[in-house]
Amino acid sequence: MSAAACPPELARSRSPYADAPRLPPGEGLTAVGILGAPAADRLELEIGPGRGGFIIERLAADPATHIVGLEIRLKWASLVDERVRASGHGNRGRVFAEDVRLALPRFREGSLSRVFIHFPDPWWKKRHAKRRLAQLDMLEHLSRALAPQGELFVQTDVWDTAQAYRGAIEGCADFVAAGDEPGSPLCAENPYGARSPRERRVMADGMPVIRLRYRRRGNDGA
Ligand SMILES: C[S@@+](CC[C@H](N)C(=O)[O-])C[C@H]1O[C@@H](n2cnc3c(N)ncnc32)[C@H](O)[C@@H]1O
Repeated sequence: MSAAACPPELARSRSPYADAPRLPPGEGLTAVGILGAPAADRLELEIGPGRGGFIIERLAADPATHIVGLEIRLKWASLVDERVRASGHGNRGRVFAEDVRLALPRFREGSLSRVFIHFPDPWWKKRHAKRRLAQLDMLEHLSRALAPQGELFVQTDVWDTAQAYRGAIEGCADFVAAGDEPGSPLCAENPYGARSPRERRVMADGMPVIRLRYRRRGNDGA
């Protein structure tokens, strides 16, 4: 994933999308606090929705879904949030211009039911490894914000990226593989009734998609 070239606040001051939507201030963020949706006890989160697509399709596919996207690029956060609103699902979905590395620690413990990471980190050179989202501190924040039994779903078309995510996630004892076969995180298909823009492009090109699914252990460790 390519973060903005200059710090987000500086980019914001120069951008025509300076008014991109932001998360509410403060800590302990929940579905109710973000969406004002009393019916939602838990939220799904998409990290880096880019040009959108997945969130809009996911909201249409499952009327019980409440989902938030965190997108570092002001332009795409603004445009996709507006598309969600125009689709008529703005009461159940939003996209905010946020750096997930700063925003995730602000979510309440156990407030997320699912986290989606679709085609992250388009650079795979070793020297760029420190930019990857699959770092230990991010996984600790993900684990804290996910509810017990909550799901973490990662898709990529880059083998080394898949290996890096597998290594990082499986190095965190809170996650257990939840793919098609017992003990494996690999899923042949995307089971969520929605596809990301990059996923559609890769599939149209006939290229393989590597899909990994994990479950956060319950408080009893199971
Ligand atoms: C390769 S694109 C994939 C977009 C989309 N998920 C898809 O599959 O089509 C990665 C996206 O992650 C966003 N991104 C990168 N770093 C981020 C961060 N720290 N916080 C939030 N979004 C980030 C980028 O701006 C970009 O939109």
